[in-house]
Amino acid sequence: MDSKKYVSEINSTENLETLGELEIKYLGRNGLINDLLSKIKDIPNEEKKAYGQKINELKTSMYRYIADKKKELQSKKSNVFFDKTLPGKSYPKGSIHIVSYAIEEITKIFEKIDFIRVSYPEVDWEYGAFESLNMPANHPARDDVETSFIDTPAHSTLGKMVLTPHTSNGQNREMKRVGKPPIRMINISKCYRPNWDPTHTPMFHQFEGLCVDPNISIVNLKGTLDHFAEKYFGKGTKTRLRPHHFQFTEPSFEVDISCNNCHGTAKVDGNKCRVCKSGWLELGGCGMVHPNVLKEGGIDSKKYSGWAFGFGIERVIMMKYGLDDIRNYYSGDIRFLEQF
Ligand code: PHE
Repeated sequence: MDSKKYVSEINSTENLETLGELEIKYLGRNGLINDLLSKIKDIPNEEKKAYGQKINELKTSMYRYIADKKKELQSKKSNVFFDKTLPGKSYPKGSIHIVSYAIEEITKIFEKIDFIRVSYPEVDWEYGAFESLNMPANHPARDDVETSFIDTPAHSTLGKMVLTPHTSNGQNREMKRVGKPPIRMINISKCYRPNWDPTHTPMFHQFEGLCVDPNISIVNLKGTLDHFAEKYFGKGTKTRLRPHHFQFTEPSFEVDISCNNCHGTAKVDGNKCRVCKSGWLELGGCGMVHPNVLKEGGIDSKKYSGWAFGFGIERVIMMKYGLDDIRNYYSGDIRFLEQF
């Protein structure tokens, strides 16, 4: 046995595992030393003593080298102090985006009263966005909603392709999907209008309610709006309807909710409420579904009536938390987003 070889082998080990393996290789039951000892029977008698002595020296020396190396490696290891009672590193956790969170909340409120959540296309034909809603081509009401057109060939009957400016395109689709009332739809989708200011982003979300059945009246509409306002904005929130015009509802209204900052009084501590100024905040549009819209959806407008509303998600969030710039929602600034 070349003594230099085992010395250098032991010295060059870098961890206790490899050293353990070497220990077995040399000193283990089937190791080198025992192997050499077993050969003693083949050694001529007069040489046996010297042979045995040599092996014993080798064995002792190996023990020593291994023990020294073990100490060295163990002391190295214990220099790296590891306190397992220290708290771990906490990695930044994401949170649900405020818009996704509001979508979940709104969905739950309406699903509890038997509305079916759908999500109709944010890219549709002019037919869905306008014609089916009693807004024929060249109708001036189409100019009220600025629309982005997609640069593709127009469909022979459905018209040009558009980025939907509202979720009302879901009305005709839902009427045709369900076929026969009752219809209770809550359509939540992306919408597009080319505006960019504190209260508008070119991409935003709306939620559209549609309810069609026999004898549905404004009372049902008002009741549902009151229910939503209390559940989403908090107990005691009231709604009011103001006459308005939409081509697809008759009569049409704008809905306001009472301001939660001043509780509809327009005053806080004798000063004008800074959130609403009038006691009310504008929520969005609604009305009784126009008979032409029902007919276009294949529904007998003599047997059935319905209501619809369409509100902006970004807007209701703004009203709920008293925010003043919805562009922050899409700024990607984590400091803004992680507040919610
Ligand atoms: N689509 C209308 C808008 O975007 C809202 C609306 C929906 C009005 C349904 C009446 C009925 O402003």
